[in-house]
Amino acid sequence: MVDGDYDLLHHGDREVGEGLVDLAVNVRLPEPPEWLRQELAACLSGLAAYPDVGCAIEAIAARHGREAADVLPTAGAAEAFTLLATAAGARRVAVVHPQFTEPEAAVRAAGLPVHRVLLDAADGFTLKPDAVPAEADLVFVGNPTNPTSVLHPAETLRRLCAPGRLLVVDEAFLDAVPGEPESLAAHRLPGVAVIRSLTKTWGIAGLRAGYVLAEPDVIARLRAVQPPWSVSTPAAVAMVACSGARALAEAEELARVAERDLGTLVAGLRRLGVEVAGTPRAPFVLVRIPGAARVRESLREAGYAVRRGDTFPGLDGDWLRIAVRSELSGFLAALREHVG
Ligand SMILES: Cc1ncc(COP(=O)(O)O)c(C=O)c1O
Repeated sequence: MVDGDYDLLHHGDREVGEGLVDLAVNVRLPEPPEWLRQELAACLSGLAAYPDVGCAIEAIAARHGREAADVLPTAGAAEAFTLLATAAGARRVAVVHPQFTEPEAAVRAAGLPVHRVLLDAADGFTLKPDAVPAEADLVFVGNPTNPTSVLHPAETLRRLCAPGRLLVVDEAFLDAVPGEPESLAAHRLPGVAVIRSLTKTWGIAGLRAGYVLAEPDVIARLRAVQPPWSVSTPAAVAMVACSGARALAEAEELARVAERDLGTLVAGLRRLGVEVAGTPRAPFVLVRIPGAARVRESLREAGYAVRRGDTFPGLDGDWLRIAVRSELSGFLAALREHVG
């Protein structure tokens, strides 16, 4: 779907290509860790049976200190957007942009109009609760936000709560921030739904594993429209495995490495005089470079795929998103040729 000037269905995977270093997709591991692959392989002999997500629900609830009734496993965060768009009973939807475009695409596919709340680059894409229309009964915000990498304070998010409104906080990248600060996942808050994804940290985009945390009546409404068995047995196995203490400790360590690599990338970009948006906290950065489309093409010729920014509502052709990786000196050297 192309909406106005924005191709809401464009994603970083369309930008990668043979022989290119992938800085366009934000999945951090090139493949799932060995212990997770073993768990997945071990469940294959049980695939004759229909999936049972009971263990996944228990494990996710324990991981976040929630009740089982607060948890709905989904086929990735993406399925959660569709369930919320169709079953939340909303009539006036606000989407805080720039952000991942699938929530808006899901709302439009459900036949609902979308009010875009555009945050401003000039103040580092700061979220101002007053900018969200009072009558919005379903509000989508990302934390940390893709593509801006900005982490909104939990207190600011709470100020978006209002009677008769469901606030949806997409925390798909929060496990990539050490200590998971500003999360709303750990408490049952009236009118708040939190979305999580296992895709990014564990390198399992192809498996489709995510979940919603919300009040039991919201979970029940979403479950009522979820296709039967949409979460497969391997996805449920991954949910259990990735919710355990060992996985959480490993995720925290990966997040620390990502934070260190983020600091190195941002420092390198600033040395080149490149404008970095906001205060990046997620494992990607948004940069503004005049003539970014041309720079992006040149980087491709030099062997690096970065993500265009102009498909995100609120951004234009001067923006690029760059994924954090551990070794980016070659990329920064290539970029130096094209900026300044
Ligand atoms: C902010 C954000 N939320 C959700 C998703 C989708 O996650 P999943 O793979 O769990 O559907 C993405 C994928 O890029 C994303 O960037």
